[in-house]
Formats: sequence, structure tokens, C-alpha cells
Amino acid sequence: MSSHDLKRQAAAAALEHVRDGMKLGLGTGSTAKHFVELLGERVRGGLKVIAVPTSEATRADAQANGIALTTLDEVDRLDLTVDGADEINAALDLVKGGGGALLREKIVAAASDRMIVIADESKLVANLGRFPLPIEVIPFGLAATRRAVEEACAECGVFGSISLRKGSGGHAFVTDGGHWILDAHLGRIPDAPGLADSLNAIPGVVENGLFIGLASMAVLAGPDGIRIIER
Ligand code: A5P
Repeated sequence: MSSHDLKRQAAAAALEHVRDGMKLGLGTGSTAKHFVELLGERVRGGLKVIAVPTSEATRADAQANGIALTTLDEVDRLDLTVDGADEINAALDLVKGGGGALLREKIVAAASDRMIVIADESKLVANLGRFPLPIEVIPFGLAATRRAVEEACAECGVFGSISLRKGSGGHAFVTDGGHWILDAHLGRIPDAPGLADSLNAIPGVVENGLFIGLASMAVLAGPDGIRIIER
């Protein structure tokens, strides 16, 4: 079965947790895109939901699929966010931001009563860190921020190269919030909560891609079917 099919199966399984009248957070990435498409089918069939997208790309997808949108300024809390991830461990700590949407994704997840992570089962890992950790930074003072990131990683016992993410034309990739992204190639992150706190204490860091204690369920699709991990 292709990765495309597995992602769609995970998205379809998460859709079973959506109820009429819910306020939803809509994630970003190829797996979340399947969820938006499937949710759109249900909306066209009469389901009533309103949703907050976690990126401009997801906003466009949601609008194209006829899903009513709102903002976190208009609603108090969200009932449920469904989003993908780059890595998931057994405790449901995540690495996110491979698509560059980590800041809005974390704001929306933190404003949600529940977060369901959807993925093909290849995203389940014993240890976080093989996927480069995205760190969203302010462009001003980049070199100083990068040095501070290296120091914070070293103090947490992790080492590796820190690269500025490039977008089209070789220029720095710019997030929806107008920031840049440093990708930290660490290999292994033994203390994810400690590293997340240290990184966010750096003045030039806006947010990091470690999602600790935010996900309540993972829906993982593999060749043998759907596997659920719950906290
Ligand atoms: C977007 O910034 C990311 O956090 C995505 O949720 C993550 O990269 C997963 O994307 P895929 O579903 O495309 O693998």
C-alpha cells in the first residue's frame, strides 16, 4: 500500500471523531490535506463545523473544500485539532514543522481540548531527533540566535549541525509569520521537554517544533490496519 493511501486511511479514521457542531483545528502537510478533503466531503453532505487553519496553504484547501473558517479571536477554545507530524514517540511527544507551519500549529493545538495526530506508521519512532528539529526564528540577529541554539543543544547533551532552511531561489524559507527556520540535525533528543524549554528561552527563537504533551491520540496507518495510541 502506498504512503498516499496510508495517510488517507489515517485521515479517514480521525474523521470518525468529528461531531456535528464542533470547532476544529486543521493541520498542515500532506496527511492533514487528506483530512481536509475528507472533511469537505462530509460538509457537503450536511455536517456543520467551523475550523481554524494552521497555515495559509490549509486555509486555501479548506476554502476550496467548502469548510467554514473562523479564527482563534472569534472562538474561545477548539474542540479538536487534527494534524500530521514528522515524528511521534510512544508518549505522543512530536516533532513538527517539516512543512514550516509549526508556530500556528502549536498555537492551534494548545487552544484545543484534544489533538489527534494522523500519520502513516513510519512516523512512529523510539527516540525523537532523527528528523531535523525545526526552530522558527526572527531574521534579525540570526548568527547570534544560531550560536545560542547550538549552546542550548550542547547544554542538553545534543550536538549537530544547525542549518538555515532554504526556499525557492536559494533564499531563506519564510514562514506564514514572516520568520525563518533553523533545522537542527541532532540525531537523537533524549530530553525533549528540557530542550524545548531551553530553545524557547532564547530571545530570537519564536517557537520550536517539539510538541510536548499536546497530542491526546495518534492514529497510525500501516499495512496491517489502523493502530491507535492514546494518552
Ligand atoms: C507542517 O509544518 C508539519 O508540522 C506537518 O504536519 C508535518 O511535516 C507532517 O507533514 P506530512 O503529513 O506531509 O508528512
